Amino acid sequence: MQILLRSVQRFVQSFNNLAWNNRVRGGRTFLVLRIILIVLIMSSLMFVTPALAAIETPVPLPPLPVPLGERIFTANCAACHIGGNNIIIAEKNLSKDALAKYEMNSIAAIKTQVTLGKNAMPAFGDNLNSAEIEAVARYVLTQSQQDWKRSSVGLQ
Ligand code: HEC
Repeated sequence: MQILLRSVQRFVQSFNNLAWNNRVRGGRTFLVLRIILIVLIMSSLMFVTPALAAIETPVPLPPLPVPLGERIFTANCAACHIGGNNIIIAEKNLSKDALAKYEMNSIAAIKTQVTLGKNAMPAFGDNLNSAEIEAVARYVLTQSQQDWKRSSVGLQ
């Protein structure tokens, strides 16, 4: 143990002599300088490490804004028409074929039905403004043309 300590001491001394003999008298100043240096390195590591971790962690992108038509549909229509279906009258769904068959495959026709309602489908004229009705009609028509593939629950 003593031998080890002495050899460490000798190593440090020789290092002191080598590097600082000409400039700093005695080992004390050098020791203080070394302590300051070590403290500086340690504290810089404390700041650098989290900074590096932050760089490596991918920053999540903000979610894309959901278009108005999709938002209106989710809030007002999805309860009965989820994924382009119709939970009340199955064949009157929002597929391209059904809309064509019942002559609902135009913005104007969808807007009229959404505004006035029809049978079991409620009227939305009092709750949605014309821009919202236009947007949801466009959303339904576009979705039907692409078979509701971009919808979270596709037509079955
Ligand atoms: C309470 C359930 C319900 C809600 C909510 C609802 N619908 Fe309907 N929807 C129906 C029913 C029932 C029909 C069939 C009406 C009929 O012709 O008798 C229908 C039919 C339709 C049709 C025609 C489908 C076809 O194949 O002919 C469209 C288009 C439509 N709805 C769009 C919408 C939109 C857009 C909304 C939201 C603004 C909406 N619906 C909200 C029940 C609903």
